[in-house]
Amino acid sequence: MSRELVDRAEQVAARAYAPYSRYLVGAVVRARDGREFDGVNVENAAYPLGICAEKSAIAAAVTAGCKPGDLEAIGITASPCGGCRQWLHEFRIGEVSYRGADGEIRTTTPAELLPDTWDLPE
Ligand code: THU
Repeated sequence: MSRELVDRAEQVAARAYAPYSRYLVGAVVRARDGREFDGVNVENAAYPLGICAEKSAIAAAVTAGCKPGDLEAIGITASPCGGCRQWLHEFRIGEVSYRGADGEIRTTTPAELLPDTWDLPE
């Protein structure tokens, strides 16, 4: 269940490197073969160079050999930003769970989070 991934993501968030915003974000992505990959936000003194937790989790999965379609679910400690929604779309993640600003866990899909998606023309 993706709710469990959100619980796990909340533990992972403690390892975020966010000295500038002090906003700790965690993400755990689960591959269809059962492997799981953690991600945290990693900030930089040159602010725009920081990366989000979702991107670092997906990058860890890709580094381990995962491709679009291989990732079944992700749990995130917060609602994903616009750029991360494009990443969730790119990797065709089956189910996305996150804790909303109201404290409730929501489970949804990349298509719901990012309608009318942009793809590179073939
Ligand atoms: N952040 C994420 O890690 N994921 C999101 O989807 C939203 C924003 C991070 C980026 C930055 O380190 C901090 O939260 C404040 O924007």
